[in-house]
Amino acid sequence: MSVPLFPVMAPASPLAAPITVLMWVTFGLGLAVFLTVVASIFLFVRRYRHRGAEGEPPQVFGNAPEELIWMGAATLVLVFLFAFSVRVAAQSSPPTDAGTPEITVTARQWFWQASYPGGAVSANEIHIPTGRRVLLSLESGDVIHDFWAYRLGRKLDVIPGQHNRLWLQASVPGVYQGACAEYCGTQHAWMRFVVLAQTPAEYQAWLTRTARPAAAPTPDTQAGAQLYARLGCPVCHAMSQPNASGKVGPDLTHFGSRQLIAGGVLSNTPEHLTRWLNDPDQVKPGTRMPKYPLNATQVASLTRYLEGLK
Ligand code: CUA
Repeated sequence: MSVPLFPVMAPASPLAAPITVLMWVTFGLGLAVFLTVVASIFLFVRRYRHRGAEGEPPQVFGNAPEELIWMGAATLVLVFLFAFSVRVAAQSSPPTDAGTPEITVTARQWFWQASYPGGAVSANEIHIPTGRRVLLSLESGDVIHDFWAYRLGRKLDVIPGQHNRLWLQASVPGVYQGACAEYCGTQHAWMRFVVLAQTPAEYQAWLTRTARPAAAPTPDTQAGAQLYARLGCPVCHAMSQPNASGKVGPDLTHFGSRQLIAGGVLSNTPEHLTRWLNDPDQVKPGTRMPKYPLNATQVASLTRYLEGLK
């Protein structure tokens, strides 16, 4: 799928389209006012520049009809924009208190995690079915973040202690970029995610696949699995098997089937994972992922184990 030059202006959802129209209308009106003012300045400068020699011109104090006209015109523009904005807000943000949220999205410094009905969990990517509205519950594990999948809907703050709800909808299957839109610390800029919109059938299949527990280690990945436990990775990372409840880092149950790692900094390849494990802070300064003194063999076996978790 090709990515538009300005994704923000290329809505792919009935929830995002009205926002784009409002943006263009506001921009158009602003441009008209700007051009009128600039054109008037040039016109008046050109037309009356010779008057400098004639001394001070007559001083005018107040002109009721003219003042009413410019104030009235400005008021009309503002009232129109206000009414338009209210309408767009209603269209892009339908009531959220009716349904039960389908997907819970949790924001942490600095990644996104989503949990789905049936127990599936994903990080850095959020799967939704196409063709209908999906209600998200937005939770924060630490500070204030802001969820923004700009082609699929409005943005909404993610606030500790609150369960903000947001509708998301994708018209056609595809990969849609998203980002944190509220400064939340060193790696705010690298708190990206993608929304993977799938046909309802593909989405169901993905849910079922991803709800399964993590793959048991094979002879090939056994060493990596043991090292994973010995290093204490489960303290921070949840994984359905072996049982762990860590909440500092992303759930790793199906790590190998994900597209991105480290909050979207890198695509998920063995080479990138190796780089990440060797020195997380070099890839993403400020990350909570510690650097372990691992030799090349250990990094290789951890990589093999994690990438095998499909
Ligand atoms: Cu999270 Cu900015």
